[in-house]
Amino acid sequence: MSADALAAAHPKDPTVSVLEVRDLTVVTGGHTLLEDVTFSLGPGERVGLIGESGSGKSLTALAVMGLLPEGLTATGTVQLRGVETDLLRIGERERSGLRGRRLGMVFQEPMTALNPLMRVGNQVAEVLRIHGTVDDREDATQRAQRLLADVELPDPGRIARRYPHQLSGGQRQRVMLAMALANGPDVLICDEPTTALDVTVQAQMLQLIAAGVADRTSGLLFISHDLPVVATVCERLLVMYGGRIVEAGPTEELLTRPRHPYTEGLLAASDLEAVDDQGRLPTIPGAVPPDGRFPSGCVFRNRCPRGDEACTVWPGWSGSDGDGVACWYPSEGRHG
Ligand SMILES: Nc1ncnc2c1ncn2[C@@H]1O[C@H](COP(=O)(O)OP(=O)(O)OP(=O)(O)O)[C@@H](O)[C@H]1O
Ligand code: SF4
Ligand SMILES: [Mg+2]
Repeated sequence: MSADALAAAHPKDPTVSVLEVRDLTVVTGGHTLLEDVTFSLGPGERVGLIGESGSGKSLTALAVMGLLPEGLTATGTVQLRGVETDLLRIGERERSGLRGRRLGMVFQEPMTALNPLMRVGNQVAEVLRIHGTVDDREDATQRAQRLLADVELPDPGRIARRYPHQLSGGQRQRVMLAMALANGPDVLICDEPTTALDVTVQAQMLQLIAAGVADRTSGLLFISHDLPVVATVCERLLVMYGGRIVEAGPTEELLTRPRHPYTEGLLAASDLEAVDDQGRLPTIPGAVPPDGRFPSGCVFRNRCPRGDEACTVWPGWSGSDGDGVACWYPSEGRHG
């Protein structure tokens, strides 16, 4: 089925998940990088994916977008709006038809995603024309300027004529967001979109992302290692460690009653009130294995204060897709 036919066969239905990821597993050369990653996004729902560096957040985004680097293989299923066709199994041509149209993405460093030799207004207009949203060149130019205005770029007519290197980092991020939202995607994925920005610009960008998602009822997957940032944008959180989701739940509950020792560690590490005399935050003992080889059984067991013999076996998931924990000894909380 072509991307057009896929989109036409499944018009926006507010009752169907916009994105359903099941048992997503990514391997390279016999080494597992992601294992059984399962989650879904409802229409207009904002879900945060958090975890330390090397936990598998970006790989999750790239697998969903069909942009995994060469040598990495994905299995599982990734479905858009209940579409029977599995995005992991359709051809690259169909998938690239869905990218930029049904799936939008904003990366940490927009220079890698923008064409350095093309004026940014033309790049936004091209996204509209490639996907057939607007046929006429002049209309596309006008629409591109409106999109640049929507992301609150001052004097969008002037900005549109600039090349990426003539913009600040924050302005480039806004251009990326305009491109990602241009065709009203079902799903917007933002991977560390504000990490390189200063605090004020970061706050503006977060507001724009939240507003852009709300206007278009797109589902948002917001990736960051920065828990307080994710918590301001997302109503539900997925906590990832060692290529696995180890806890999931509503933001408020997860922040007040975390159950997994790793989530507890992340929270302690972002609690400004826990700063010591020298101004240092508590950190989670140990580190993510630099070679990406996590222990067998529970992936967190070599850093966990509560682990014992039982933890040499993977604990499995208890709870539902959107609310649960993978731990033999979770803290008392949402599931009693
Ligand atoms: N092309 C690749 N080949 C082999 N291993 C890879 C490749 N890309 C990523 N990995 C490994 O997969 C693991 C997860 O990487 P990923 O980039 O998803 O982490 P992340 O959670 O996004 O971290 P960060 O916060 O630093 O962006 C890491 O151990 C990384 O070394
Ligand atoms: S399963 Fe065991 S090692 Fe893993 S997080 Fe739970 S208590 Fe710690
Ligand atoms: Mg990353």
